[in-house]
Amino acid sequence: MAFNTLSVVFLAITTARLTSAAYSKPVTCATGQKTAHAACCVLFPILDDIQANLFDGGKCGEEVHESLRLTFHDAIGFSPSLGGGGADGSIFYFDKVETAFGANAGIDDIVDAQTPFINKYNTTITAGDFIQFAGAVGVGNCPGAPRVPFFLNRPAAKAASPAGLIPEPFDSITKILARFAEVNFSPEEVVALLASHTVAAADHVDVTIPGSPFDSTPGVFDTQLFIETQLRGTGFPGTGGNNGEVESPLAGEIRLQSDAALARDPRTACAWQSFAANQAKMQREFGAAMAKMAVIGQDKRKMVDCSDVIPIPKPVVGTPHLPAGKTMGDIEQACTSSAFPTLTADPGPATSVAPVPPS
Ligand code: HEM
Ligand SMILES: *[C@@H]1O[C@H](CO)[C@@H](O)[C@H](O)[C@H]1NC(C)=O
Repeated sequence: MAFNTLSVVFLAITTARLTSAAYSKPVTCATGQKTAHAACCVLFPILDDIQANLFDGGKCGEEVHESLRLTFHDAIGFSPSLGGGGADGSIFYFDKVETAFGANAGIDDIVDAQTPFINKYNTTITAGDFIQFAGAVGVGNCPGAPRVPFFLNRPAAKAASPAGLIPEPFDSITKILARFAEVNFSPEEVVALLASHTVAAADHVDVTIPGSPFDSTPGVFDTQLFIETQLRGTGFPGTGGNNGEVESPLAGEIRLQSDAALARDPRTACAWQSFAANQAKMQREFGAAMAKMAVIGQDKRKMVDCSDVIPIPKPVVGTPHLPAGKTMGDIEQACTSSAFPTLTADPGPATSVAPVPPS
């Protein structure tokens, strides 16, 4: 009896494997790598090229940060009422229109940096595919990032995105959540996407302190953003900030009004806190939210799953901690249903956070 049950289960598993194998047709590409779909082979030379020549040998620096931001600014350009094509490369094809949007301040740098690559491969993949591919590959260079799924086959954009669809740091949380709800993202998914600000800095929010990161470890995809945004602001803005900048807790660190408010708003505070000491949850939910964002406006049934082309990221470096000089008393508890995780501070006196060097 036991044996029979077991063999039925075994048969069911084997059949499931055969079926999915028949669908996926694993291939060895001419360049030697294996992937589930022959259509994905074209991505390997592009992968090698951007790792070497766009991301400076596979680093998690400025070009990666900007490429990740670009995935969002292209994808969010869709609204059921106003139109736009979502993740369609319109930010490249109609760059003169879109880079002029206020919310796109500074985005021209990365559009310019990606242009030679987009042009070089434009008979192989579209700009919409390139932008999401570069973002998935790039963020994977940051230790602790998830392997972000990548689907191929976005048609070229037909028109520019309408203005006003990209959230700004001075927008209210009500406005931000409503904008994301239009493209079917829950408040929890919005918070998960904001994990991106753990590998990020701002040049244009406060022009007196360019390159200031949002957390103390902008080269690592860790949870420090969710910890450090919960600390009481103690007077470290520059002098040029009124563009959605609020006081940060550390010299050299910049804090967006929107990040500060998401950390404290009753609709998002518990989700924000849930990532503060939970790398695995953050990885999982950020990866899932990115996969969803990357196909906004696209018909996923017409796309090919090339996720296995994306390199597997390195594990996170360090553990969740308070910056040196801080105590748990500096945490502004906002979630009302559970306490912020207890963390210890790095030893020694408070230090300042270094800017992210320009590329
Ligand atoms: C409420 C939504 C969001 C707002 C208001 C917002 C706002 C901003 C602002 C103002 C900057 C600084 C730009 C500069 O001055 O150079 C920034 C940087 C950045 N954002 Fe966001 N963002 C949001 C969501 C996202 C999402 C969903 C992603 C990606 C999935 C993302 C990725 C990034 C990255 C990686 C940077 C750093 C760019 C760099 O270091 O050059 N952001 N964001
Ligand atoms: C590809 O890029 C070249 C510039 O290198 C441009 O002349 C050409 O029109 C582009 N083709 C497509 C399909 O976008």
